[in-house]
Amino acid sequence: MNIQTCLSPALFNLYPHQGKTVVIIDILRATSAICSAFEHGINKIIPVMTIEEAEAMQAKGYLAGGERDGVKLPQFDYGNSPYDFMTENTVGKDLVLTTTNGTKACKMAEGAANVVIGSFINMAAVAKYVSGLDNDVILFCSGWKDKFNIEDTLFAGALAEALMLQYRATTDCDSTQAAKYLYNEANSNIIQFIEKSSHRIRLRKLELERDINYCFMLNQSQTIPVLVNGEIIKLQNN
Ligand code: MLT
Repeated sequence: MNIQTCLSPALFNLYPHQGKTVVIIDILRATSAICSAFEHGINKIIPVMTIEEAEAMQAKGYLAGGERDGVKLPQFDYGNSPYDFMTENTVGKDLVLTTTNGTKACKMAEGAANVVIGSFINMAAVAKYVSGLDNDVILFCSGWKDKFNIEDTLFAGALAEALMLQYRATTDCDSTQAAKYLYNEANSNIIQFIEKSSHRIRLRKLELERDINYCFMLNQSQTIPVLVNGEIIKLQNN
């Protein structure tokens, strides 16, 4: 199992993904919010790229969630906070979701052998599941509007470290090595380390500090959301 890390959607065309496992990473906040939604009972999530696609599905009866630049879109039922989905109202329901970066990465990864939603919340469960698939792995950082971001790279480093130490994965990829170095530098206090990260600053201005804290809680969930035929569902019996 060889690991590669794609640090931005703008680089994803350099990482052929057919036959591989792709782990989608958008720590602040899409992949953390998706994990929260499944942890709290949602049935499935359909990721879409555009607001118009989400509106069309909302008109057909789906619950709709979405944000741009971290701000909830007013016409939708939910934004992209992990706390939005901690409600009885989403239990057993189907949700269409569009976010600035995370749902775009989901769509780009379609065609991989397996697409898995990764976050600090479910990291150990994802590491175990991915190692069992025994395919080569691409850790796909959603970044910010095609730019590098620190928090996704930290998670890529943490997951690469877990896969290499616990499951004998290997890497010949400099961005994976760089992500591991960054994670080991940050590990003793990740929240402090991302103090100046652009999206942390953006979310703090939006008074979403509690979302940030939630998104860095480690291994709170065994839930593994996977993308199958354009829909994110919860893997059963993991
Ligand atoms: C995204 O998909 O870009 C993010 O999750 C943005 C956000 O914090 O809502």
